[in-house]
Amino acid sequence: MSVALFYTDTITNVLDFGCGPGSLTIKLAEYLPNAKVYGVDIDRNSIEKAKENKAKENIPNVEFVLLENDHMDESWTKKFDWITLVDVLHDLPNPNFSISDIKRVLKDDGIVSVIDPCVHSDHKMNQGNQTAAMLYVFSTFLCLPCSMSREPAVGNGVGWGVENRAEFLKSNDLKILGDEHNGFVQFQKA
Ligand SMILES: C[S@@+](CC[C@H](N)C(=O)[O-])C[C@H]1O[C@@H](n2cnc3c(N)ncnc32)[C@H](O)[C@@H]1O
Repeated sequence: MSVALFYTDTITNVLDFGCGPGSLTIKLAEYLPNAKVYGVDIDRNSIEKAKENKAKENIPNVEFVLLENDHMDESWTKKFDWITLVDVLHDLPNPNFSISDIKRVLKDDGIVSVIDPCVHSDHKMNQGNQTAAMLYVFSTFLCLPCSMSREPAVGNGVGWGVENRAEFLKSNDLKILGDEHNGFVQFQKA
């Protein structure tokens, strides 16, 4: 169980960053009926699909918002107790900008939960790892193009790996909770 889930009673606002069609976002809203859950994404089609899914499921406490220019609304500053990024961080073309915007909308004692593929940043360390081999293929066609789709187009993808991710988070003044070299990691403002 994640650290964030120990405090479900006190969670009022949740953000699912890079929500895609909103499957997880809707589940979070069902799980946290007293919280308001927001899903944001830069992809218009994903947000339209997420809104359709919300209407089908009839979940009142979830809202989907299209991110224009990557930037979240100023009124969201320090709004969120819990932010999730599921299979998103390694896809971002401008992770420095996104993470500073995520920090801005996170409450001072808020928690961010992140899942990325558990791939070592040193490619040689993945030798013999069939899952990593399969993920590299997906990444070539999905994650890497996404991470190169806008300036500054860092081109991370799955090969970025969990060691580079940990360094990236620490260099952005974030405190990692638990094992920083796991696919699933949580962090707070340092
Ligand atoms: C692999 S999908 C994961 C979707 C969802 N989290 C899930 O697990 O089903 C990555 C998502 O990140 C979104 N994304 C990419 N760059 C983004 C950005 N700068 N801001 C917000 N979302 C972004 C993509 O549009 C895509 O929907």
